[in-house]
Amino acid sequence: MSAFPFPDRPRLFGVAVSHYQVEGGDPCDWTDWEGAGRTKGGACGRATDSWLRYEEDAALAAGLGANAFRFSVSWSRVEPRRGAFDAPALARYRRFVERLVALGLEPVVTLHHFTHPRWFHTETPWTSPSSVEAFGRFVRETARALSPLVRLYLTFNEPLVLLLGGFLDGQIPPGLADARAAARALDHLLAAHAEAAGVLRAEAPAAAIGVAHNMLDFAADRPGNPFDALFARHARRLYNTAFLEAFTTGRWNLWIPPFTRFKGRRDALAGSLDLVGVNYYSRLHVRFPAPTRVLTRFRYRDRQGRGLTDNGWEIAPSSFAALLADAGRLGLPVLVTENGVADAADALRPAFLESHVAALAEAEGGGVPVAGYLHWSLLDNFEWLDGYGPKFGLFAVDPETFERRPRPSAGVFREIGKSFLARPPRRDDAQKSVHI
Ligand code: FCB
Repeated sequence: MSAFPFPDRPRLFGVAVSHYQVEGGDPCDWTDWEGAGRTKGGACGRATDSWLRYEEDAALAAGLGANAFRFSVSWSRVEPRRGAFDAPALARYRRFVERLVALGLEPVVTLHHFTHPRWFHTETPWTSPSSVEAFGRFVRETARALSPLVRLYLTFNEPLVLLLGGFLDGQIPPGLADARAAARALDHLLAAHAEAAGVLRAEAPAAAIGVAHNMLDFAADRPGNPFDALFARHARRLYNTAFLEAFTTGRWNLWIPPFTRFKGRRDALAGSLDLVGVNYYSRLHVRFPAPTRVLTRFRYRDRQGRGLTDNGWEIAPSSFAALLADAGRLGLPVLVTENGVADAADALRPAFLESHVAALAEAEGGGVPVAGYLHWSLLDNFEWLDGYGPKFGLFAVDPETFERRPRPSAGVFREIGKSFLARPPRRDDAQKSVHI
């Protein structure tokens, strides 16, 4: 039986990282992408060297007063050749989980965070039903290695971003821009989530299951323009809730203007989700007509005067509160699985933290069953297409020595955490634990 939020830990407050962005030395489809010159920011290389320093990272998080640590398991490390599982790699993750638990940190484990083993796109790609079974096998081996210490799994990180970027926009591996392939990939990604949920219910029956969904606000680029407003409203619903609802209803009908429609049904999705994970960063401004390249034609504006981040994103905490309310309408506990700011100078981060945790409290006050907040990120890390440019860390990382140095906002995070964890969670109906 799984219960979330956990009776012994009704609120989570912590940090989030992902395997490829911190571990280093993990050849996979992204490594090939970098080698082919498809990133703007160069190669990942040793990242923050966390494969060798995870215990140090755990201690840093504990020192910040966190009670949760989100990380992901690298499929390419665990199954470097199809069907051949790497026992030492699984044992290494197990040791890390043991360390987290010993430090009082709830391990929040993501099973898929953008990367794939090198064999995946040729042998069992997402466009083929064999991907579902392949993912299920990997999840089974991982859950066996980590059970029963892990009580919270996220099957996928931002599956919609993978779909749009990897299959419709060609920006990230596997680099397709093909609506038919995208339709098949969407079907199999959702089926793979359901398959993983089934495997987890069997292998880790006490664990809760979620998905980390990227949410964005959309606004009219030309204020007062009715077409822009209409388009923004459509994009907001499509990107945020229409996709997410597929996980609870088992049905989807997504229209991506102008010519793409994905429609489908997977009954196995019923009951596959115990919580909704929300990754939130920013708000986009859109102009009618719809852009043809899905991910690239949006603009960031600073209409609220809070400033743009180092990577040009608008800081929009009021959008955060509204999107959390949308996520809450699914009737499941909501966990913020990522939220953060690229800010090398640490000039924006303190106010960013304050305003976003305040937005969380506002959403909670409005009845959203908020289960916790995980900040992106503990460390400066490899930011995908942007390489080492954007600095998201509460700790800066020296690229040569990998020494971690706290930014002043690490102290702000610590203080916010104290009051967040001290505040009793809402005890209305929506906030009661989900029992399965
Ligand atoms: C999210 C990703 C995460 C990180 C942040 C900045 O979309 O899940 O890996 O890159 O953006």
